[in-house]
Amino acid sequence: MEARTAPLAFRRPVEADHRRLVAVVDDWWGGRQLAHLLPRLWLQFFTGTSWIAETADGTLAGFLVGFVSPDDPAVGYVHMVATSPNHRKRGLGRDLYQHFFDDVAARGVREVRAITWAGNRVSIGFHTAIGFGVDDGPGTQRLYGTSAYPDYEGDGRDMVVFSKRLGA
Ligand SMILES: CC(C)(COP(=O)(O)OP(=O)(O)OC[C@H]1O[C@@H](n2cnc3c(N)ncnc32)[C@H](O)[C@@H]1OP(=O)(O)O)[C@@H](O)C(=O)NCCC(=O)NCCS
Repeated sequence: MEARTAPLAFRRPVEADHRRLVAVVDDWWGGRQLAHLLPRLWLQFFTGTSWIAETADGTLAGFLVGFVSPDDPAVGYVHMVATSPNHRKRGLGRDLYQHFFDDVAARGVREVRAITWAGNRVSIGFHTAIGFGVDDGPGTQRLYGTSAYPDYEGDGRDMVVFSKRLGA
């Protein structure tokens, strides 16, 4: 992994950040049309468990949006995490997750979950590298070389389900 070239500042997102986050999503996900997955509500109601990383001049370097489950307060969930292509493979994605782990562990969370499209090799490599396990339970199939749930989010939308115990 390359050394980080300049220090980054981590802060809570605010609603006014929505436009600049949504503007980078399709590009940062390699041209996939995913901006609709980040509606403004994430920057209205989930900022207390979400993070933005910026360079000294305020350029967006990465973000993570997540929350503590209202149904099960022992579970945290990360909806989206991404880093700028200019800042990848330098530990920023791991740092964003660590900020989230620290946040939610302090609120009693013991397990963090996330999902990703079964064909997203980068996301699967990243999540497993930072300690997430892949759910290979009943209903999963080997898809794109990984255990995944076929049609998890609807027809043809096959997803890998990750989980990581905190404090283990
Ligand atoms: C996935 C993503 C967030 C990783 O961010 P990053 O800043 O490059 O990650 P880090 O540098 O913190 O890497 C952490 C670990 O993941 C591994 N990793 C990162 N990118 C990887 C890749 N392309 N393939 C395999 N492993 C990878 C690193 O090697 C590192 O492991 P190590 O510490 O054992 O060396 C980034 O590539 C991205 O934004 N991708 C597009 C959006 C996306 O797919 N998000 C995830 C789904 S919501």
